[in-house]
Amino acid sequence: MAKGLFITLEGPEGAGKTTNREFLAERLQLAGHSVVLTREPGGTGLAEKIRELLLAEHDEPVAVDTELLLMFAARAQHLQQLILPALEQGSIVLCDRFTDATYAYQGGGRGIDPQRIAVLENFVQGSLRPDLTLLFDLPVADGMKRARLRGQLDRFEQERHEFFEAVRNSYLQRAQSDPERFRIINAALPLSQVQQQLLPVLDEIRDRDGC
Ligand SMILES: Nc1ncnc2c1ncn2[C@@H]1O[C@H](COP(=O)(O)OP(=O)(O)OP(=O)(O)O)[C@@H](O)[C@H]1O
Ligand SMILES: [Mg+2]
Repeated sequence: MAKGLFITLEGPEGAGKTTNREFLAERLQLAGHSVVLTREPGGTGLAEKIRELLLAEHDEPVAVDTELLLMFAARAQHLQQLILPALEQGSIVLCDRFTDATYAYQGGGRGIDPQRIAVLENFVQGSLRPDLTLLFDLPVADGMKRARLRGQLDRFEQERHEFFEAVRNSYLQRAQSDPERFRIINAALPLSQVQQQLLPVLDEIRDRDGC
């Protein structure tokens, strides 16, 4: 069994995952924990190349199964090269998006049957699941507004409003069906109030990591 803690941050574009990942990392490092920051799709050289393929525009339609398989191809690489070794060494891995995003975007958003996603999840991850998942939840329009402020939109960010409503609903359903693993964070609030909600989560992580 891996010794570290695998923590994932989920939610739509603009929810504050990356901003709050930095906040959590800083607090945990100050308390003496070994922390590894990473993201999906990506996290290693090869997986980041797959990310580029996933986010780019192509001059032919991307089949939904192609998108799904590329996500899991990147994940397999990321797990073998980075996540599993870091957990073996006892680090806390803070990962910006993971398989819940696949269920939300390729499942909820694109309409792929979640049972087909589960087949790939088991194939690529075996029994590995995040120890804790923070879902940064906010109304779709708010997230899009923040993402737009940041500049050019990628292939996912250009999707229609209904796509993101489906993504949000799918995330919330997953969180509600697994309250042991998920903590829902109200990400629509000002950053200081989002970070307030992370303080009990930090306590929980410190308790679990025994530091
Ligand atoms: N609570 C907040 N209130 C207002 N603005 C915020 C808040 N949290 C983050 N932001 C701002 O919103 C933008 C998006 O935040 P961030 O990059 O952390 O989101 P993200 O969830 O990582 O998005 P993506 O999935 O697109 O990478 C940034 O400009 C950030 O400064
Ligand atoms: Mg981000």
